[in-house]
Amino acid sequence: MDQAAWILMCPPDFFGIEYEINPWMNRRRDADRTMAVRQWESLRALLEAAGAEVACLRPAPGLPDLVFTANAALIHRDLAVLSRFHHPERQGEELLCRRWFAEQGFRIHDLKARGSFEGAGDALFCGDTLFAGYRIRSDVRTHQEIGEMLGCRVVPLELVQTRYYHLDTCFCPLAPGSAVYHPEAFDDYGRRALRHWIPDLIAVDEDEASRFACNAVVLGKTVVTGTGCPDLHRQLLDRGFTPRETPLDEFIKAGGSAKCLTLRLDGEDAASWKVGY
Ligand code: ARG
Repeated sequence: MDQAAWILMCPPDFFGIEYEINPWMNRRRDADRTMAVRQWESLRALLEAAGAEVACLRPAPGLPDLVFTANAALIHRDLAVLSRFHHPERQGEELLCRRWFAEQGFRIHDLKARGSFEGAGDALFCGDTLFAGYRIRSDVRTHQEIGEMLGCRVVPLELVQTRYYHLDTCFCPLAPGSAVYHPEAFDDYGRRALRHWIPDLIAVDEDEASRFACNAVVLGKTVVTGTGCPDLHRQLLDRGFTPRETPLDEFIKAGGSAKCLTLRLDGEDAASWKVGY
C-alpha cells in the first residue's frame, strides 16, 4: 500500500446486547464489556500494525451497535451514501454518522429510493462491480439508485439465511476478481452470479462461516479475521495473502466481527476505482 489505509472505528464504551435484531443476539447472553474493550483494542492494534490509520467515531450511550461502523455508509471516493437503518433500534446512529462525515468533508448522498440501506454491510465493490445484498436489511431499490448515480454495474444478491443477514457476513472481496464467500448464504442465482463475475472464489464452510470467517478486513495482502478460521487462512496463504487473527467473540454475540467493526474511508483495496487512483 502506498498510502496508509484510512479506517473508521468506534470504541465499544456502550457496547452490549440490549435488543435482539438478528439471530445471534440474545439479551440473556450479554457481552462482557471489559473483554469487548480488550478485543476491540487488539483489533485496532493489528490493523495499525498492518499499516492502517484509524479514525474514531465518538461512542454514544443507548447506541450499543454504533461500534459496527461498516453500517454507517457506503463510501465511494469523497462521497458517503448514508445508511437508513431497517430497525428503529439503530436509527439513532444516523444523525451521528451524518455529522461525522460532513465534518470530515465527505459529500453526502441521501437516498431518494424507498426502503432501508445499511451501507458497506450490504454493498461491497469487487473490481468495478458493486455486489449488493438485499431482503433482510437493505432494499434493492436503494442499490439501483446507487448504481445509477455511480454509473457502475450492480449485482443484487438475495440473502437467504437470517444468520447471514448482511452481505459482509458471507462475502468478502479480496482483490478485483477474487473473493471469499459462504455459498449456502445465497440462492442458486446468487451463486451463479458470483461465479460469473468473480473468477477466483474461496468457499467457506458452515463451521467457519459461523465464526464469521467471511467478515474479514483486507489491507493489501493482509487479511484480518476473528479466531477459528484455519481452513480459510490456509487458502489465503496459498494465494499469497498474509492471514491474521484476533479474538472477537464478544462482538459475535451481537452478530458482527472484524469487518463490521470497520469502515474503509479511502476505498476498499478490492475496488478497481481505488486500485487505479
Ligand atoms: N447487531 C448489529 C445489527 O444487527 C450487528 C451489525 C453487524 N454489522 C455488519 N456490517 N454485518 O445490526
